Amino acid sequence: MSDAKTVAAATTIRGSLRVPGDKSASHRALMLSALADGVSTITGLSLGQDVLATSRIVERLGAHCSFDSDDVVVEGPSEGLRASTSPLDCGNSGTTMRLVAGIVSGVAGSHVLVGDGSLSKRPMDRVATPLRRMGARITGRGERLTAPLSIEGEAMLRAIEYHVPMPSAQVKSAVLFAGLQATGHTVVSEDVRTRSTTETMMRHAGVTLHCVDQGEGRTVTITPGRPEPTKWRIPGDPSQAAFFAVLGAIHPDAAIDVVDIDDAAERVGFVTVLRRMGANLVWRENDGTIALHSESAKLLGTEIFASEIPSVDEVPILTVAAAAASGLSVFRDMSELRVKESDRFAGSMALAEALGCRVWSENDDFFVEGLGSARAFRSFSLAVGLDHRMVMAGSVAALAGNGGTIDGAATVQSSYPGFFDDVDALR
Ligand code: S3P
Repeated sequence: MSDAKTVAAATTIRGSLRVPGDKSASHRALMLSALADGVSTITGLSLGQDVLATSRIVERLGAHCSFDSDDVVVEGPSEGLRASTSPLDCGNSGTTMRLVAGIVSGVAGSHVLVGDGSLSKRPMDRVATPLRRMGARITGRGERLTAPLSIEGEAMLRAIEYHVPMPSAQVKSAVLFAGLQATGHTVVSEDVRTRSTTETMMRHAGVTLHCVDQGEGRTVTITPGRPEPTKWRIPGDPSQAAFFAVLGAIHPDAAIDVVDIDDAAERVGFVTVLRRMGANLVWRENDGTIALHSESAKLLGTEIFASEIPSVDEVPILTVAAAAASGLSVFRDMSELRVKESDRFAGSMALAEALGCRVWSENDDFFVEGLGSARAFRSFSLAVGLDHRMVMAGSVAALAGNGGTIDGAATVQSSYPGFFDDVDALR
């Protein structure tokens, strides 16, 4: 069945909204709560399919989750997690598969991790390499070790020192989750500081971590131990706020407030990039939480380095900003884009091209010649595969420009089930 969605252009965009709880924090709150001995509560959990996949998996491993109220209550089993006899279905979620791989590596027994058509193409060798060194036995398909993954967990993992060779919070986190269950201190280092959600949340749950920043990188040393049951409050997802920041900036008659969002340094590089392009973005404090205001602006092209937005989640939507800007934008060192939910390197270029831009690439860089205004966008039709962020980037382009049809729009359920309702409320 086709799930093509036609998004009409909006004449005016006004309003205030709260995006779903941060997806990274939501996965980790469920995982840390499941590893704890006792009852944790989570306020503001993302209810997207990715996070629900994690909740079903921690239940299969022996935790209990109840979704009866606004808060989600998670009870971690006193005796610790145990292997499940059925496969652990990670759906579309790379974070689920990679972090769960780290967790079950330390749970004795056999585990099978499966995913959907998109996740089954994504490289898992990047987590298998350190986890094997720690003592887990891991097999998958082909050289890049794609899912289904089979993991023989080892209750006594070896502590290791590991340098993560690509900028990846998921790999860092997989090693840290395994490190919780190792026999000594595990040390993980990275050349570019990726999101520190795992470090911050583990500390909040009483885990002993020592973090040292040097240059642009960071080294984390973890002391094994069990997280404590915790009360979690999860702010809104900055990567979702980015769609509205760009919509506000490129729509000719717009003013949007995104309330209660996480403004951690590694997550808001997109704000720096958009301001450099000329966007009117203002942080506001609101009842102890942080809101981001965005309104119509005239944008100029810029040069964007992957290190400014580690994990590159915001590149598809920044490509839409580049398409609306005057002049050339250059996206540098974007190789990681190719291994996301879809090949976002190709997908971002295809979107800009569908809008009418001249685009080209050289090695890991791509170039977008902006049209000077979103009103110059072509009405377009695009198939996005199983990639929620490409759906939302395309929708913003359609709203600010001249409409468009997106095939595969239902995949927005992965991270933002209410996205189209929230968009309609802003019209
Ligand atoms: C995430 C890390 C990033 C990001 C993903 C969420 C996380 O992936 O793209 O959406 O929660 O750790 P990488 O580790 O592959 O950069």
